[in-house]
Amino acid sequence: MGAARVLRGVRKLERMNEHPAHSLLPPTAAGPGDGPASRAPDNGEDEARGEVGVGPWAGPWPEGDHYDPELLAQGDRRNVVDRYRYWRREAIVADLDTRRHPFHVAVENWSHDFNIGSVVRTANAFGCAAVHIVGRRRWNKRGAMVTDRYQHVHHHPDTEALVAWASERGLPLLGVDNLPGAVPLETYPLPREAVLVFGQEGPGLSEEARRVCRAVLSIAQFGSTRSINAGAAAAIAMHAWVRAHVFDQPVSGSSSVAEATSGAPAPTTALS
Ligand SMILES: C[S@@+](CC[C@H](N)C(=O)[O-])C[C@H]1O[C@@H](n2cnc3c(N)ncnc32)[C@H](O)[C@@H]1O
Repeated sequence: MGAARVLRGVRKLERMNEHPAHSLLPPTAAGPGDGPASRAPDNGEDEARGEVGVGPWAGPWPEGDHYDPELLAQGDRRNVVDRYRYWRREAIVADLDTRRHPFHVAVENWSHDFNIGSVVRTANAFGCAAVHIVGRRRWNKRGAMVTDRYQHVHHHPDTEALVAWASERGLPLLGVDNLPGAVPLETYPLPREAVLVFGQEGPGLSEEARRVCRAVLSIAQFGSTRSINAGAAAAIAMHAWVRAHVFDQPVSGSSSVAEATSGAPAPTTALS
């Protein structure tokens, strides 16, 4: 295979990854001459500049309460998958509510951690039931790329309030941190319904959070850094849930740790 062909394939894959729902345009947009007038690459970072999405609807408008007349008239520049182009925000939230997954994530927010926005964006992408901010009410929204508009986000002033909320619903709290005594996330059978709790840059999971979690789960590391950032850790943990419960890839037991890491240095914990 020639180098140019390989490059073309790589570019195509990259484009597919940018447009995971490329084929999910509203059905009414399919007719010749009808539908989105223009299309540009979707990129959350560009949304604020109005440079992404689709232009005004061309042709007769589609019918349905979920369509937003203003978006149909002016174009839809939001960072949403094609399925939701021209939909009202409330309609998108209602549709997502019909198929959110039963896991939650909680993030400690004692010092406006910049990772929280990224956790919210990933939670949105993976269909997380809700994100819980524990500590300060105000959180750094930068990395969320406005995905919080479509995601349920609850605030709890302290760990005690989170515990009360979770126990009312019978949801176990599972800490995620690479602390001594943590068990490997890679081989832990994640329950279908649970709250995954993340700490913040610097201190990591607070003492209070550690005390109330059923278990603390660590993500294996092999390099020199003590930890990865909380946004990355949250993405890995949420995807572990997706693999177990959407793709039916349950973990096979603790023996697989040895296999997965054989020949590689043993995983490290932050405070060892
Ligand atoms: C930057 S870490 C700081 C805490 C870390 N224990 C330390 O001593 O450096 C911030 C958060 O990211 C998550 N995190 C980072 N690396 C992790 C890992 N290897 N396993 C599980 N969680 C991790 C945890 O939720 C942690 O509280």
